[in-house]
Amino acid sequence: MDLIGSNDGIETWQEVSLLYNAALRQMQTKVEILNEEFQHTHQYNPIEHIKTRIKTPESIVKKLKRHGYDSTIENMVNYVNDIAGIRIICSFTSDIYRIAEMIKHQQDIQVIQVKDYITFPKVSGYKSYHMIITVPVYLSDRKVDTKVEMQIRTVAMDFWASLEHKINYKFEGDVPERICQELVDCAKMVSDLDDKMLELNDEIMELSRKPE
Ligand code: GTP
Ligand code: MG
Repeated sequence: MDLIGSNDGIETWQEVSLLYNAALRQMQTKVEILNEEFQHTHQYNPIEHIKTRIKTPESIVKKLKRHGYDSTIENMVNYVNDIAGIRIICSFTSDIYRIAEMIKHQQDIQVIQVKDYITFPKVSGYKSYHMIITVPVYLSDRKVDTKVEMQIRTVAMDFWASLEHKINYKFEGDVPERICQELVDCAKMVSDLDDKMLELNDEIMELSRKPE
């Protein structure tokens, strides 16, 4: 496998960020195309919005340190899977799996890891579908399969995750027990809301299919 890091001349942060930026653009386009096709065939957009980000060098170095690795380009590329991140926000839980399957089946995509925190939520209450994939980036003289972390979640899951993230940041990870419990309760409400909205949507779709 021609992953970056396997000694193929990627030596500087500029080269790394060029590759990861290109990989993110490839993924963003793939996801936008799927969304448009979906609109065309099913008359609705499963994707509400897409966010992409490149991890800052500071935060990459911090992560390497946390795992006991030296700050080298090779270690970055080999051990930090989320240098390039794309977050896909969907309307309904069922859309998440649909999009994940469509991405997995694309010929040029390799799936490195899947974490289904929707079927198996974290103790915090966190829900999301995570994949580490590689997408090919074509340079002048070679192809480099570049890692991207994908997080797919509903609008409601995203609302919960951003608040929980803010709270964690504020308390520097040391969140009071009562607030943790409240967050777990909120996660349950979010999950119930997602189920209810999906049910309603299915009903509406069914009704609109039937002739008057
Ligand atoms: P990181 O070292 O944080 O990247 O985690 P990991 O390598 O164990 O991977 P995991 O799939 O658990 O998490 C990857 C990313 O998901 C994190 O960087 C966050 O963006 C998000 N995430 C995971 N768990 C939580 C959580 O409990 N709350 C929130 N708000 N986000 C989370
Ligand atoms: Mg991360």
